[in-house]
Amino acid sequence: MDVMNFDINTAEVFKISVMAQFEEKESGALLPEHTQYVCGEGLENFREAIADFLNDHMEPVEPILPENLIVSNGCTPLVDTLAFSLADEGEGLLIPCPFYGSFHLDLQSRSRVIPFPVELSSKVGPGETQPFQLTVTRLESALKKATEQGVKIRGLLLCNPNNPLGNIYSEELLQDCLDFAFRHSLHVIVDEIYMMCGYREGCSVTNVMSLKNIPDKEMVHVLWGFSKDFGISGFRCGVLHTLNKELFRVISSGYQRFHDIPAQTQASYTMDWYRISSELFELMMIPVSMLEWLDKTFFPTNKRGLRNAYQMACDALGEVGIPFLPGECGLFIWVDFRELLPTSSFEDEMHLLHCMTTHGVFIFPGSYFCCPEPGWFRIIFAMETDVLQLGLSRIQQTVREVRAGLASKLDERVALVQREENAGLVESEEVGESLEDLVRTLHQQIKNSDWLKENTAEKWMEDNPELAKAFRKQNAEK
Ligand SMILES: Cc1ncc(COP(=O)(O)O)c(C=O)c1O
Repeated sequence: MDVMNFDINTAEVFKISVMAQFEEKESGALLPEHTQYVCGEGLENFREAIADFLNDHMEPVEPILPENLIVSNGCTPLVDTLAFSLADEGEGLLIPCPFYGSFHLDLQSRSRVIPFPVELSSKVGPGETQPFQLTVTRLESALKKATEQGVKIRGLLLCNPNNPLGNIYSEELLQDCLDFAFRHSLHVIVDEIYMMCGYREGCSVTNVMSLKNIPDKEMVHVLWGFSKDFGISGFRCGVLHTLNKELFRVISSGYQRFHDIPAQTQASYTMDWYRISSELFELMMIPVSMLEWLDKTFFPTNKRGLRNAYQMACDALGEVGIPFLPGECGLFIWVDFRELLPTSSFEDEMHLLHCMTTHGVFIFPGSYFCCPEPGWFRIIFAMETDVLQLGLSRIQQTVREVRAGLASKLDERVALVQREENAGLVESEEVGESLEDLVRTLHQQIKNSDWLKENTAEKWMEDNPELAKAFRKQNAEK
């Protein structure tokens, strides 16, 4: 059986409508200047078109200007570059965890910057209203922990809407995060790559640039890209917005040389704008007609597709009684398989992953996202209906079989205990493998031993006369 990869984090459903648009259009021509080197931040026309799109969809308090944008071949190199620019090797960025697992690679491969976890919990803690909630208390305690461990924290990396949780930060939370960062002179990087993937009816994403009270605008750096909202990760386009002139200079005139977008590619996006023709990049160039198409056709279709796919995933998980975190945005759902782990360990989480793959489906385990609790998995649901259906049924089958396996092990244990109780003795002194085994063995040993008969209170008093006297005196005083 082929293993279905349920972790291709790009909405296949998107491609259908985007590709249909491409196919209707012709491609544009190149101009001589497009055969030359271009500036590090990208072609002006291209950045203008992106600024138009972002102004339209991020609702920034102040207009987003092309001169504050840097385009790159994806958000991945931009995260790497930001880490490299803002922190030295061995310093850290706080990241609420679970977090998008590749941040590890992005921060560490070149820059050796530590992704310092702000641990979130499935248990709703004091002052929290939902599982895996980010709070200032958690931020403060992570910062304190980092300081105690000698890790100098330079910034806070947020992913909103969140991968892998599928939730959206409220305006208040974002404001709290900015205020927290300001108090500690930290940079804030906000990865908003899923900003148009909200599928819950009525949900809306608060983009950080729409906040009215950003305490220090030069410390806030925003990322967005084509991979998720347009479902075209292969096109490799990411955008950084920063008002920090020094950071802009360092990146555009320095590090960006390693991952710029070919002029010809940017140009083809841009020319098509003027010609009002051609391929995908009518999307990016946003002529009025395309803005309309995006808002009236493309995004609603994709949101509807995501909503249906999410519902299918919820129904399938519900049928087999597997809980999950209610989602509202993104291409995935955060699922609680803890019940299927014999012990709460990452070894057992890997074992469950192994069971999934032997049943023909791959999903990423929580350990990939640095989730502090074993047993959580992320399932991507953004795919064609029949593929999703098949994958979900394989997951259901795995759940049923693993559960049946656990139940039969439990039955065996109960039968064993009953046999031991009937026999009235524990035949083996061996301690079992789990805490449950250990407690059961101790119970049996106490029940069967002469220790209680021999070690009476009277005997203890005889052996410890001084202590016994003090004990009696204390009792009498009460
Ligand atoms: C939160 C987040 N940021 C960045 C990326 C990578 O983006 P890009 O394809 O633009 O490199 C991903 C891809 O899964 C992601 O989930």
